[in-house]
Amino acid sequence: MKSDKLIVLGVTGSIASFKAADLCSKLAKEFEVQVIMTENACRFVTPVTFRTLSRRPVITTLWENESQWRPRHVELADEAALFAAVPATANFLAKAANGIADDALSTFAATFHGTHIYAPAMNPKMWSHEACKANTATLEKRGVIFAGPADGSVACGADGRGRMIEATEIFDIIKAHLQ
Ligand SMILES: Cc1cc2nc3c(=O)[nH]c(=O)nc-3n(C[C@H](O)[C@H](O)[C@H](O)COP(=O)(O)O)c2cc1C
Repeated sequence: MKSDKLIVLGVTGSIASFKAADLCSKLAKEFEVQVIMTENACRFVTPVTFRTLSRRPVITTLWENESQWRPRHVELADEAALFAAVPATANFLAKAANGIADDALSTFAATFHGTHIYAPAMNPKMWSHEACKANTATLEKRGVIFAGPADGSVACGADGRGRMIEATEIFDIIKAHLQ
């Protein structure tokens, strides 16, 4: 039977964004899923894909919530059981580490006090950059769970750590933290 637990799936702008669709499909079979996409994620994959897979409208902006008087990010922060950012860009990690809330996804991240799971995906040069290392350390200290990244070759041809782990692995990590 499908659980009534709500998972907020944040999708950011990475070459791995399409892999979040597979995760969304798997999650939606067992849980309620609310997708929030950044503007840049929408350059890689369309909200229509996630709307269909999650069977809910996708949130892409802070400014459209005509049916409710309460801001959606506040409402969701009360309702959500878990937040997963998949993929999590270097930019998203930097904003989350610093509490920057300048779009629907980062504003939700800055509002939600429950479990945060981030699956980074980026070029190894970005992952190993001192700025990203400092942001990751800040987030880990705050209790954020990191799902990957893995070693291997990334889409742009480079080898090293930065590749997003597979949707099935992220799914298992999410489920383990919902028990
Ligand atoms: C083709 C392409 C692929 C990209 N892939 C990644 C990526 O895998 N990880 C990453 O951190 N940034 C990647 N970027 C850069 C981000 O899209 C960029 O930093 C953007 O500002 C992220 O916005 P968001 O975090 O709001 O989605 C890529 C950019 C391009 C043009």
